Amino acid sequence: MAKIADLWEHHDWSSTEYVNRWAEGQDPKEAQREKPFRLMTEVIPYAKDAPITLLDLGSGYGALCQFLLGHFSNAKAVCHDGSDEMIKLGETRMAGLKDRVRHVQADFSHQGWSKKIDGSFEAVVSSIAIHNVRAYETIQSIYGEAFSLLKPGGCFLNFDRMKPSLDEQLKWLRELGFENVQCFWDDPKRALIGGFKKKN
Ligand SMILES: C[S@@+](CC[C@H](N)C(=O)[O-])C[C@H]1O[C@@H](n2cnc3c(N)ncnc32)[C@H](O)[C@@H]1O
Repeated sequence: MAKIADLWEHHDWSSTEYVNRWAEGQDPKEAQREKPFRLMTEVIPYAKDAPITLLDLGSGYGALCQFLLGHFSNAKAVCHDGSDEMIKLGETRMAGLKDRVRHVQADFSHQGWSKKIDGSFEAVVSSIAIHNVRAYETIQSIYGEAFSLLKPGGCFLNFDRMKPSLDEQLKWLRELGFENVQCFWDDPKRALIGGFKKKN
């Protein structure tokens, strides 16, 4: 994904060196994300032992995915990312979970990315990834494709910077057909937002 690095001011997710440096910088900060990650386990509307399948968008080295798989003991997951380097790092760090995790590369700034992801999911989640695409219409379209990947009764949760505003993003989710759309948590920098797909 050499080209998508051009969209960002200072991230180069296609560089091995940058990805490793980012991961090393993030590792000591993981404890700070425990609260929103734990909240996700409470909001995802399935029992701890349900055999569900999760999709983590822009999963990076897999911090959120690993947290969720630790809670949902019979769950499997697809880790999506646009960066081959991140996928390599994720595969290395999650080698012990390889029976439960599959990685898929796709650039979600290009419409139709979701066709590269096989299957449908009880939960589609994301953590500090979607804002990277910057363009508001692209964020909106990623939410639309996330909706199409959900099973009826499932939920979409995005822990991210709120640009555009929280209210604007909640409005998009409602317009896309999500139900019970909410902000579950926020602080001055980030929010956890999401909604549910109607049960059949
Ligand atoms: C800040 S990191 C977050 C990683 C992980 N979700 C976490 O919370 O630790 C952002 C991730 O989004 C991915 N990403 C950025 N732009 C992307 C795009 N256009 N398509 C797919 N992935 C992208 C990057 O490769 C990177 O792994």
